[in-house]
Amino acid sequence: MNVTEILQFVDGLVYQHTGKHLDNVQKAVVKGSCEGDTYNEIAENNHLNKTHVGDVGGDLWKLLSEILNENIKKSNFLSTFERLNLESSPNSLLNNVMINSNNNNNFCHTQTFRNSQPENQENNKTKSSYHDLTFAPKILKFYNRETELKKINNYIFNQKIKLISVLGLSGIGKTYLVKRFVDLNLDQFEVIIWKSLNFPKTLDLLLNDLLKISNVETLYATSLHQYNETPLQKSLDDKLNQLFAIFKEKRCLIILDDVQNIFMKGEFSGEYKPEYQNYQNFFTKILETEHQSNIILISQEECAEMRCFNEDLCLINCLKLSGLNEVQFLKNMGLKDEDSWLNLINLYEGNPFYLQTIANSIKNIYDGNVAEFLAENKHNLPLITKDIQARLQILSKKLSSIEQQIVLKLSNFNQPVSREELKIELDLSSTDFINGLESLQQRYLVTKIKEAKILFKLVPVFQEYVRNCCQN
Ligand SMILES: Nc1ncnc2c1ncn2[C@@H]1O[C@H](COP(=O)(O)OP(=O)(O)OP(=O)(O)O)[C@@H](O)[C@H]1O
Ligand SMILES: [Mg+2]
Repeated sequence: MNVTEILQFVDGLVYQHTGKHLDNVQKAVVKGSCEGDTYNEIAENNHLNKTHVGDVGGDLWKLLSEILNENIKKSNFLSTFERLNLESSPNSLLNNVMINSNNNNNFCHTQTFRNSQPENQENNKTKSSYHDLTFAPKILKFYNRETELKKINNYIFNQKIKLISVLGLSGIGKTYLVKRFVDLNLDQFEVIIWKSLNFPKTLDLLLNDLLKISNVETLYATSLHQYNETPLQKSLDDKLNQLFAIFKEKRCLIILDDVQNIFMKGEFSGEYKPEYQNYQNFFTKILETEHQSNIILISQEECAEMRCFNEDLCLINCLKLSGLNEVQFLKNMGLKDEDSWLNLINLYEGNPFYLQTIANSIKNIYDGNVAEFLAENKHNLPLITKDIQARLQILSKKLSSIEQQIVLKLSNFNQPVSREELKIELDLSSTDFINGLESLQQRYLVTKIKEAKILFKLVPVFQEYVRNCCQN
């Protein structure tokens, strides 16, 4: 690499990471360092203050170290860039960075370029990879979930499942689980992009984002020249085709979190809002198209595209998450009476979010005495904190009127109830009753218990919420 290429490379990296190009002092540091000058010499040659040049140099190497995940210093930066094999690889960091630096790309703060070991060991060149985890949570402490992590591993790496959905109640730990999987498997994918649909975008805008940040220009340079247009001006179909070509070319992992927000309120679960209807085509296309990538959908409610109707033929699977059965989870939350922690976990069915908020209330009101809190609760019913109430309110506002009727009736039963017993209590047609009950299961608000008969019950926290907050 010559000095100009190195300057371009460093400028591209810095621009990607900070949104700013190299300033004159930084350029002087890079150029002078390439030529073997000391900081004193760089300062003298450019009429700059010596201390300032040293400071700017130190900050620059630190930034490059963070971006490249390597310990970059003035003394080793040239050899490190050479080792990264920047010049010879067609998919090199240099190519990626130079192309990306021409984009108006604002996703770069957490974007990292990593050197992952190529699967083919004969090919000893480094592969560049693109990770955009801007919208993913940072995990500081993670407990348990070994079985679930193994399942996701198995779906992705052994069974070649293309579309995985991770489903369950709000706060049960879906986002955390998937992020943990991503953290453990960063090197297995060339592209990883995490998108939250908390404030959903139309599919068209989502595709723009995915195409922009997946460096589509590299792959489509030829076709773009041919048509003389940018990817953002293409039709939805063209964009989908481009994306699936990338999915075929590179091993990508795309995570869409909070998918429930593209579904309607007041209808059965998994009914797309009109403006997001074409997400259905996208999800279907993931299964129908040949590619080597994986998409994980995280949602509080199921839709038909997340279900597999024939397991033998299936390229789709879902992981329905239940609670976290781990007393260590309550450590460091200021709670006493460790012997009672398991009872508290059982009361809240291991929902980590519920447990966090109740632990906080127990700390504030009972000075952390869990046994005292439980003893006062004679009927062994979960107490609904205002944070829990706020989440369940959002959930209950999504219910259709048929579901609301079923929920209100179910909440009157102290024990699980059979389908026949429940139906007698309701003035609903068989179709509405069955569809409503099924939809509530697909929102994880009703559970089915297999005993001598099949019985149904509301999940306890939701039952308490309905009894306390929804009865007239
Ligand atoms: N395995 C875990 N280890 C440690 N903490 C966890 C774990 N799972 C969840 N948590 C804690 O519980 C909180 C809720 O988890 P998370 O955000 O993953 O829930 P969720 O199912 O995605 O909820 P929502 O559907 O509302 O987005 C997290 O912020 C985290 O503090
Ligand atoms: Mg979540």
